[in-house]
Amino acid sequence: MASLATTYMGLRLDNPLVVSSSGITGQVSGIERCADAGAGAVVLKSMFEELIIAASKNLDETVVASGEGRPEIYDYLDLGMSFGPLPYLEFIEKVRKHVAIPVIASVNCVSPNQWVPYARSIESAGADALELNISHFPSDEDSRAIEARYVEIVSEVTRQVSIPVAVKLGLHFTSPLVLMGDLVAAGAKALVLFNRFHSVDVDLESRRLVFAVRFSSASEQTIPLRWVGLAAGKFDCDVAASTGILDAESILKMLMVGATVTQFCSCLYQNGTQYLSELKHDLSAWLDSEGIASVDAIRGIALGHTEDQASLLTRFQYVSDLEEAASTYTF
Ligand SMILES: Cc1cc2nc3c(=O)[nH]c(=O)nc-3n(C[C@H](O)[C@H](O)[C@H](O)COP(=O)(O)O)c2cc1C
Repeated sequence: MASLATTYMGLRLDNPLVVSSSGITGQVSGIERCADAGAGAVVLKSMFEELIIAASKNLDETVVASGEGRPEIYDYLDLGMSFGPLPYLEFIEKVRKHVAIPVIASVNCVSPNQWVPYARSIESAGADALELNISHFPSDEDSRAIEARYVEIVSEVTRQVSIPVAVKLGLHFTSPLVLMGDLVAAGAKALVLFNRFHSVDVDLESRRLVFAVRFSSASEQTIPLRWVGLAAGKFDCDVAASTGILDAESILKMLMVGATVTQFCSCLYQNGTQYLSELKHDLSAWLDSEGIASVDAIRGIALGHTEDQASLLTRFQYVSDLEEAASTYTF
């Protein structure tokens, strides 16, 4: 039987199926179910930077007392941080005791400010790695300033911790590969491509803005597939594919363009966490049927066949396609 084992940011994983940060990984019971069903690793629900900073306004003695035995907590208490984030550290400790698979903590952040020393507490609490979910809604700030901040966050955090740090990005950048290169140079050990943000829609009946579909569809996977292929071929770091991965075929495709692991949650919300065992089974069955010995053997095999093939990743439009469409469809 094919080996699904792999290594992500230096962590040994039983397989490349990682449950992404979501409500499922916000509870010990959900995480246990994922581990039992065969997840390779889990990324915990994100702790929000704003909560860490807001907590600084609620300093109280109970909190200071609960910092005992965790001396680094005092470091950020000195910076004015306190209670809110403590339950998250306790959560990490609890998860660590309940499951043996790698546990990746997650912080949703937008600045390299007061919250950064908290990363050390996340490490002390037992997280195997930290994923930075850097998400900033661009309204009126210069794009270069925003990107410089992304890089600064990664530099500051990697200075604080010795566990590997991954960066989870949204897809809205003018020149994503330049930013990715800067993030890797700043110390990121993995790029998670991509986060999927809430989008909006209009409800015709109420004529109001509403949140659009909460879960992803398979058609969304083509965008990460392109950028995973480009990043995996270019940078000396691991790449996690995320968004629109709903079945074993999509996992195989992402591995073939160089993804180290895949991250997903929509398909687990829709099919239950038990679906992980089906994905694992389907992945093994495909490898066995093709006589391939391991997932590591297929990583990146769709890349670099010929120059022409590789150029597919960087072409947005083909003149020949446009000409063909014009001659095929008459209006
Ligand atoms: C209900 C829900 C909650 C989520 N919460 C987080 C979160 O706290 N932090 C984060 O980085 N991503 C969060 N995500 C994004 C997912 O981790 C994932 O990157 C995204 O949904 C794409 O994967 P999918 O196609 O399987 O949905 C959330 C997604 C969903 C659907």
